[in-house]
Amino acid sequence: MKYNQLGKSGIRVSELCFGTMTFGGRGMWSNVGTVERQNAAQMVSTCLAAGINFFDSADIYSDGFAEEILRYALGTHRQDVIIATKVRGRMGRGPNDTGLSRKYIIEAVEASLTRLGTDWIDLYQIHNWDADTPLEETMSALDHLVQSGKVRYIGCSNLTGWQLAKAQMLAELRGWSGFVTLQALYSIIHRDLEQELMPLCKEDGIGVLPWSPLAGGFLTGKYRRGKPRPLHSRRTDPDKAFLKFNEERGYDIVEKLDELSSAHNGTVSQGALNWLRVKPNVSSIIIGAKTLDQLEENIKCVDWQFTEEEISALDEVSTIKLRYPYFMQAQWKND
Ligand SMILES: NC(=O)c1ccc[n+]([C@@H]2O[C@H](COP(=O)([O-])OP(=O)(O)OC[C@H]3O[C@@H](n4cnc5c(N)ncnc54)[C@H](OP(=O)(O)O)[C@@H]3O)[C@@H](O)[C@H]2O)c1
Repeated sequence: MKYNQLGKSGIRVSELCFGTMTFGGRGMWSNVGTVERQNAAQMVSTCLAAGINFFDSADIYSDGFAEEILRYALGTHRQDVIIATKVRGRMGRGPNDTGLSRKYIIEAVEASLTRLGTDWIDLYQIHNWDADTPLEETMSALDHLVQSGKVRYIGCSNLTGWQLAKAQMLAELRGWSGFVTLQALYSIIHRDLEQELMPLCKEDGIGVLPWSPLAGGFLTGKYRRGKPRPLHSRRTDPDKAFLKFNEERGYDIVEKLDELSSAHNGTVSQGALNWLRVKPNVSSIIIGAKTLDQLEENIKCVDWQFTEEEISALDEVSTIKLRYPYFMQAQWKND
């Protein structure tokens, strides 16, 4: 397992991070996964044995239950790992049980610390933007958490370019902690990040943590053009799937991944992860799994890698059109 610097921070994380969104199966998460304590403990042991030292959760996953299961699954290994979790989603019915107000952030961190059974969170991430709370209030509350030792680093997720740039600039001008990571949708199918956010992250040394690197299971080879879809999977019914995309383009990518991965005795899933592993600025890829077999298959991606020519072929089949104003800037770049 390779270890990367977590953005500009001083800590090193394994190039694979294990996401806990499949833990618990409560509420709206039951369709995603129902991994219970014993299975979670097995999965976490498998990760640790493979050298994974980084685990991602969120308060909202299974309404808090995923954090509790992670605590159980880690057992005595708390000190050995980097735990990331998130705040922003709705955790109660009240008007203040969501968002990024100072009140809510301070309450939410205490609740996560209790569920995780720890005195500190290594990486505390805002899960989304809150348009109703002044950015100053959010950033100063997050800095307060870092100063108080409850949180070691802060990160963000699902922000636009201007939001992230504004937050970083504000933190810098005020001497507050800035975000060390951006957790974002990024896979060989979803490459929007490359147009605005990736250049910003490169410029500012923000580490990228791709989520849904297998596009919710599509990039595993079990969805094939013209073939029956697998049952009991997240994308069994594409109309109900959370991630919407052009599956015809997706099949072209899967076929290319299959062809090139087979030449290395690898699988489609491993190929999709290996495409991400060579992308600049990626600190760690947040892998997901519903079963131990899936997890084991995915972790084995680190055992091989594509050649440069193969990566170029994958870039080509998955290329996306530049949107405005990016195509205008691309045209004038060398003038
Ligand atoms: N910040 C955010 O907004 C955000 C959003 C989403 C996720 N995340 C984070 O990212 C992590 C990973 O996301 P994700 O679960 O969507 O990742 P993903 O890798 O795109 O999808 C994982 C799912 O794909 C299927 N799968 C995985 N490996 C497989 C294999 N080898 N063979 C067959 N099927 C396989 C399983 O679902 P089925 O068996 O049901 O097909 C599994 O649950 C989450 O746990 C969470 O920590 C963050």
